[in-house]
Amino acid sequence: MTTNESVVGSGALSTGVVITGGASGIGLATARALAQAGRPVALWDINQAKAVSEAARIADEFGCAAVGVGVDLSDPSLYAAALRTTRSALTDIGGLVHAAGVVDTGSLDGVTVDVWDLGINTHLRPLILLIKELLPDFEANPGSAIVGIASINATLGNAVNPVYSAAKGGMLSMVRSLADRLGPAGIRINCVSPGQILTPMLQPTVDALPAGAFERRILLGRLGHPDEVARAVRFLLSAEASYITAAELVVDGGNISSQRM
Ligand SMILES: NC(=O)c1ccc[n+]([C@@H]2O[C@H](COP(=O)([O-])OP(=O)(O)OC[C@H]3O[C@@H](n4cnc5c(N)ncnc54)[C@H](O)[C@@H]3O)[C@@H](O)[C@H]2O)c1
Repeated sequence: MTTNESVVGSGALSTGVVITGGASGIGLATARALAQAGRPVALWDINQAKAVSEAARIADEFGCAAVGVGVDLSDPSLYAAALRTTRSALTDIGGLVHAAGVVDTGSLDGVTVDVWDLGINTHLRPLILLIKELLPDFEANPGSAIVGIASINATLGNAVNPVYSAAKGGMLSMVRSLADRLGPAGIRINCVSPGQILTPMLQPTVDALPAGAFERRILLGRLGHPDEVARAVRFLLSAEASYITAAELVVDGGNISSQRM
């Protein structure tokens, strides 16, 4: 059987990508990695000032279109305005990365309705609502693809963050369902599950634990860098990943698979 180049693609895609949580950590590293490959980017973040300044830095450094958009993703009534700003700044939108996140640290004892709502409405609900909003853009642009940033906590049991773990586990199964819905249109959707990546989210935990607490378990013996996750996301959004959908790509330096004590 031969493959159809117009379907599988082999060249670089040049459509724009919306990156939630784009002002910091993994989202920012992803926006930079995509811009470096020539893809216009929209950095959506609750921290509007940082989204705007990082987008300006990206446009300056890589010479591509980049826009920073202030939006609280837990409030869907704000999406329409953010989409208007994005569509007027980027010619075409052919990608979405949902990296915005918060983490609960209070275990079962700290769970309240507000903690539950914040976790689910930051990690899980925006992914499906944004895909629904962006579907016409994706359908109009061959090669469109989506990446949800899940976590190894979707699989590992950690007493500290039950809401976070539920949201990330939900993301894995929701992505498989959406892959079925989107597949006939040629739109791919996957998850990337990072392990411990040194970002502003993880830093306080690293500081609070004895030195080497995480590293001891990880087969590569070190924490990850946001760029190492960003490159995996960029791959999944590219034509190089044309036959990959409904998958979880674990980027954890060998953590889930470790039996080290
Ligand atoms: N760092 C890790 O070790 C690690 C591991 C596994 C998964 N992750 C996931 O990676 C993603 C990125 O995390 P990170 O480590 O880069 O953290 P980070 O704190 O550096 O970045 C998260 C970004 O999300 C933004 N954000 C939070 N709530 C928002 C909201 N309601 N609306 C819009 N923006 C919002 C923050 O302002 C911030 O810029 C998260 O989904 C996180 O769960 C991180």
